[in-house]
Amino acid sequence: MKKKAPALRSAQWFGRDDIYGFIYRSWVKNRGVPHDQFDGRPVIGICNTYSELVPCNSHFRTLAEHVRAGILEAGGFPLEFPVMSLGETLLRPTAMLYRNLASMDVEESIRANPLDGVVLLVGCDKTTPALLMGAASVDLPAIAVSGGPMLSGKYRGTDIGSGTNVWSMSEDLRAGRISVEEFHEAESCMHRSHGHCMTMGTASTMASMVEALGVGMPGNAAIPAVDARRNVLARSAGRRIVDMVREKLNLSRILTQAAFGNAIRANAAIGGSTNAVIHLIAIARRIGVELTLADWDRMGRGVHCLANLMPSGRYLMEDFYYAGGLPAVLRELGENGLLQRDALTVNGRTIWENNRDAPCWNRDVIHTLKKPFKKHTGIAVLRGNLCPDGAIIKPSAATPKLLRHRGRAVVFESIEDFHARIDDPALDIDARCVMVLKNCGPKGYPGMAEVGNMPLPRKLLKKGVSDMVRISDARMSGTAYGTVVLHVAPEAAAGGPLALVENGDEIELDVAQRRLQLLVPEKILAKRRAKWRQPKPPMARGYWKLYSEHVLQAHQGADLDFLVGASGALVPRDNH
Ligand code: FES
Repeated sequence: MKKKAPALRSAQWFGRDDIYGFIYRSWVKNRGVPHDQFDGRPVIGICNTYSELVPCNSHFRTLAEHVRAGILEAGGFPLEFPVMSLGETLLRPTAMLYRNLASMDVEESIRANPLDGVVLLVGCDKTTPALLMGAASVDLPAIAVSGGPMLSGKYRGTDIGSGTNVWSMSEDLRAGRISVEEFHEAESCMHRSHGHCMTMGTASTMASMVEALGVGMPGNAAIPAVDARRNVLARSAGRRIVDMVREKLNLSRILTQAAFGNAIRANAAIGGSTNAVIHLIAIARRIGVELTLADWDRMGRGVHCLANLMPSGRYLMEDFYYAGGLPAVLRELGENGLLQRDALTVNGRTIWENNRDAPCWNRDVIHTLKKPFKKHTGIAVLRGNLCPDGAIIKPSAATPKLLRHRGRAVVFESIEDFHARIDDPALDIDARCVMVLKNCGPKGYPGMAEVGNMPLPRKLLKKGVSDMVRISDARMSGTAYGTVVLHVAPEAAAGGPLALVENGDEIELDVAQRRLQLLVPEKILAKRRAKWRQPKPPMARGYWKLYSEHVLQAHQGADLDFLVGASGALVPRDNH
């Protein structure tokens, strides 16, 4: 039987009158889909990361229904499908280990199915990059819809934020400043609605990146999960994706070099998570955009932090939304030459058209560039003999006087070593020391855990020490803070110089000069290098093995080497 010329990709499945057309349509009809749904209308996937194991995405069944309603209203045909979901709180050893696996699930699910466009439901930290990476490698029209932040935590008359106050309260508990009962009470007060972490942690950062990249609808970053307007946004995205298919507005027309530049500047302006560095580089490399650590430093320089949000400041995402949200920040950037105004967004308008009239209702929450909340807060990229391929620090979360510091290294060979010794009263450490943690990078952990913001020794906490310079090849939770150098590359487990640091070595950090130096003569380092042996990966089979053998370093986005780039939407070896 003769195939009809496919107007849309989905017509290769549904638009034919042969045995395969029968098969493709008939099985889908088994839940009551009428025949006229196969009349050539755009078929839209709703890529859902709903899971009870991912509390931040637990409302996504409802969110998906709003997307579905929008798709139907615009004359599309919605087909929802699940993909691997990643939650920060329950997954061990770290959700980041599985980001690339989830991205493979997304990529293959989209390519293998009769989809013309896709709405990506994203929320908890890693779900956003995983879905964007997967979708980028297929390059169909796509819109990301974030689940939105939780309502502000409320505890004994004060606001408390996800993560940020977990760190401070656990330090208070360890130092004996609060009781276990108070600790338990705070647990119930912190997370009291659907949604993701409501500080400017990684989830809120990535939701902001979605908006700044133009791959989400205006307002995506901050509408609380339980605000009716979040459902309206989902419905609008459902309507819009149908038109995007008709307009052939593929992801690669949105995710351009200009879009990534806008995202980097927006990240600096919101005091966003360091995790965005790795994720944006990984997404860019999937869609064929060259994005490096140097771009982060160059484009983030001179941008000030405008958002007074935890962990850098005091407010929470709910306040951010009521104050004007990301549109108010993007307008401020655009009015000061810090936005590539003509970058196209998913609603068919440019980023500047979307945001040029955005109001700000509270200048204590969203500052102006003239009177910023904190100055010069872009991600700083460090170089030096301790990190030949780079390391990063988030100055807005650091203690200013520690940004230039020289101190004696106190070395922990692994996270287990750290836990075993950090509260040992005999540990030889004082407030001027530099804490060094090894073997927590992409290969070393594996998965590059968020352990870089090492808790300080109990004996120093009791003396009132609140921050120290900490250096590792690990990541840090976006909700954490401190003078913490992260993502040292190459990592210790890959034989980077970090592996050679010993107790008592002098280390010099100079953020203004972008320097991180191990002050040990090269001759001595060469001797140590000759003795170094690569640690064995903890699991020699399955995905862990695949990951350990193929993961790239932090400065390359920690993607798997064979996933970099795109394969497009064509299904190879299709004999139907
Ligand atoms: Fe999911 Fe923080 S644990 S966003």
